[in-house]
Amino acid sequence: MLKIAPDLSYEQIDIIIKIVMENKLQGIVATNTTIARENVSISDEELKKIGPGGLSGVPLMAKSTDILRYIEDKTNDQLVLIGVGGIMKKRDAIEKFKAGAELVQLYTGFIYNGPHLVRKINKIKMSNKIQNNQAE
Ligand SMILES: Cc1cc2nc3c(=O)[nH]c(=O)nc-3n(C[C@H](O)[C@H](O)[C@H](O)COP(=O)(O)O)c2cc1C
Repeated sequence: MLKIAPDLSYEQIDIIIKIVMENKLQGIVATNTTIARENVSISDEELKKIGPGGLSGVPLMAKSTDILRYIEDKTNDQLVLIGVGGIMKKRDAIEKFKAGAELVQLYTGFIYNGPHLVRKINKIKMSNKIQNNQAE
């Protein structure tokens, strides 16, 4: 598996998909943390104080899911896709499955919401994964 950053351009992602296919990797983990500061609700001053580094959690959800969906559309089930980035509740995991993930990974959601969240995600019925009726 190759884990990618969410800060890549779609042109760069196309190149990565090609390399992953050519080298017969099993799949892609999308995504790691971001160096961007989009969708963050704190002031520029506070952001400056915190400094650079990888941002995880809620602000990452939309971007990493868009990338996952893009890779799924481009690869047509030829790769295993692991969705990660901003899964804070069961509904976020369902979004990742809908976007093409076979598996999900969570880090920040595990810290803030605990192992119970993993239990809830494990109960998502795969037959329902593309339906939106498990939201809570
Ligand atoms: C403190 C911290 C350490 C991390 N270390 C690694 C690491 O060693 N290798 C890796 O592939 N990803 C690492 N990540 C990225 C996470 O696995 C995950 O891809 C990212 O945080 C986005 O998911 P999340 O929003 O659920 O946290 C780390 C993330 C955090 C917050």
